[in-house]
Amino acid sequence: MHAHHIALIGVNSRIGPAILQALLEHPSKPHIVIFLRPTSHPAPTHPRIRTVTIPSDPPTLHDLTSALNEHDIESLVSALSPADRETQITLADACVAAGVYRYIPADYGSMRSDDPYVLDLLPNFRNKKLVREHCQALARKHKSFTWTSLASGHFFDYGLRTELLGINEKENSAMLFDGGKDRFSTSTVKQIGKAVAAIVLDKEEETANQMLLIQSFCVSQLEIIKAMDEVKGRRPVKGVYVESEGFIEEKAAEAKKGDAEAVEELVAVLGIKRSNWTGDKLFANELLGLKEENLRDVVHDVLG
Ligand SMILES: NC(=O)c1ccc[n+]([C@@H]2O[C@H](COP(=O)([O-])OP(=O)(O)OC[C@H]3O[C@@H](n4cnc5c(N)ncnc54)[C@H](OP(=O)(O)O)[C@@H]3O)[C@@H](O)[C@H]2O)c1
Repeated sequence: MHAHHIALIGVNSRIGPAILQALLEHPSKPHIVIFLRPTSHPAPTHPRIRTVTIPSDPPTLHDLTSALNEHDIESLVSALSPADRETQITLADACVAAGVYRYIPADYGSMRSDDPYVLDLLPNFRNKKLVREHCQALARKHKSFTWTSLASGHFFDYGLRTELLGINEKENSAMLFDGGKDRFSTSTVKQIGKAVAAIVLDKEEETANQMLLIQSFCVSQLEIIKAMDEVKGRRPVKGVYVESEGFIEEKAAEAKKGDAEAVEELVAVLGIKRSNWTGDKLFANELLGLKEENLRDVVHDVLG
């Protein structure tokens, strides 16, 4: 059987390790080339991993194209930060130049990057949209190039350890947006890794040139807190009711003045209020063979 050659850039990001793990665990045993920059932290080692340091930083079209050509790369997965917009555009151009068939730009969004309400509030989501639009334009021009992007909702396990889900696990407190009963789609990083592996290794044709939505489960803040209380068996999380509309207005004003914490709080509330994929035609769990996970089991794994 032909072993696929996949390049991964951004392995040291919050999603990179889970993507690498899922690729390594895939039964087709692909070869993986990790692109690093000269200042990168070391990448994990494995007999099926090769590490390539791209000499230029930010990487040039020439250097990226040479590396893709040299390693016969068929799919390129980006796990870079959305702030690296220009690099992700250059990566798409390099895919075209080197004849790489599939590019996965780094979206993995807490919200959809085509949601006008979100785009108005968050520059990083505008970056994701611009990268996707560049891929769409390239795919129209070059039949040899395709792309897929994924929106996952909040990273659930990362979110439990931070305040992304509106819950501060360490302090046993929570901001319950509009009563905390809204359900939202959210994914573990493992589930996102599996989705990426399925796209490039199992369902390449079916997923070409699409933005897809995935989840581990669709749950409310109150359901998460109940699971946390059960798993931890301690005094219940103390929730404070917060009206989301006023909160978004306040944080948007602070974010506009450059307050990075306000940006994080905006992402947190918007991921809860605007990311329920139920009934959406782009919802792709079934297509990608992803099973829903059990909330309590995941909470137990993360906090237990
Ligand atoms: N849905 C959610 O809840 C959620 C949460 C967080 C992130 N995300 C998404 O996850 C993705 C990654 O974002 P992030 O915030 O985790 O990124 P990040 O922390 O900024 O990590 C990006 C990594 O890329 C590496 N890198 C940067 N430039 C590079 C280059 N030229 N070549 C090779 N590696 C390079 C860096 O590692 P070195 O310094 O070692 O090179 C860095 O650790 C984005 O799509 C983001 O939107 C989603």
